[in-house]
Amino acid sequence: MSTGFSLTRTTRPVPEAERAAILAEPGFGRYFTDHMASAVWTAADGWQDRRIRPLEPFTLHPSAAVLHYAQEIFEGLKAYRHADGSVWLFRPEANARRFARSARRLALPELPEEDFLAGVMELVRADEPWVPAAGGEESLYLRPFMFASEAFLGVRPAAEVTYAVIAGPAGPYFPSGVTGVTLWVTTRYTRAARGGTGAAKCGGNYAGSLAAQIEAAEQGCDQVMYLDSEGEGKLEESGTMNLCLVTSDGRLLTPELGTILEGVTRDTILALAPGLGLTPEERTVTLEELRSGAADGTITEVFAAGTAAVVTPITGFKGEGYEFTIGDGSPGEQTMAIRRTVLDLQYGRAEDKHGWLRRV
Ligand code: COI
Repeated sequence: MSTGFSLTRTTRPVPEAERAAILAEPGFGRYFTDHMASAVWTAADGWQDRRIRPLEPFTLHPSAAVLHYAQEIFEGLKAYRHADGSVWLFRPEANARRFARSARRLALPELPEEDFLAGVMELVRADEPWVPAAGGEESLYLRPFMFASEAFLGVRPAAEVTYAVIAGPAGPYFPSGVTGVTLWVTTRYTRAARGGTGAAKCGGNYAGSLAAQIEAAEQGCDQVMYLDSEGEGKLEESGTMNLCLVTSDGRLLTPELGTILEGVTRDTILALAPGLGLTPEERTVTLEELRSGAADGTITEVFAAGTAAVVTPITGFKGEGYEFTIGDGSPGEQTMAIRRTVLDLQYGRAEDKHGWLRRV
């Protein structure tokens, strides 16, 4: 059955030997597959021109609205190869729904869920040899995105929008891997305010995070820990990842939704927590609660969750005039168990009781 996204031209793919060398050490976000999916929306005609085509640069007029007003959104999801060679997506419908929510917030047209799924599926089919082999933690990272391609400088929702999906083989997001990362608690920068775009996956949120990321690196930390914008010392998220805390009495705490990104991995972990003996709690967690809990041992583990980062142990925090570790400063047992559980599901090593996997 045609999904609308069809291969329209023959392509000259990356030679097999070169692809094999890339797959041996893919890194993250450095290499891309042979094709891309794309579609165009106009206010007059709606969605049209759905294609799988060779990966190639866009031609944009210098006045294209995205270049000036950042009317753009994106998603991140992965295709996993299972031991029998089959390829699977994990909860792509959740990404499709979040993409539609982000679109509404950025006044972009909603892409129907079936188009989101078809574009992603057909791209993975076209570039199937790029899906890394089973056995490790590599996957094919998929990046759907949508931007205002109309050539127009007035500030209003664009009347022409481009949708595309690109893909690239991916290893661990953090080169330090599962040894744990440290977070810089910034008080100089905030990520999102009430009523802002914090819950949307839009490029502007990430552009705004870069100065804080530089600050974190200057402080010797790997990533940023954002607090709420109203100065109440509430933990929010870590820019590219949601935050989770494990308590000594078996609770899994994570900041409630509102100004943070509604992570698919976050949601997955909340659903899996009871099966791992943890009671999930979505609620306000303050920096003070984290600091005192780390000091008296009631907060035993902290980790970050995201598609790219999967489950990444957070081993320490640093802020203006203080520094503390979580537990003994090494990755926690529960964190590693959650990580294993998520990965086992994604790679087909555990039974998919929730019906989250979609075969490509
Ligand atoms: C993802 O986890 O897919 C993200 O979007 C984070 C990314 C900005 C690296």
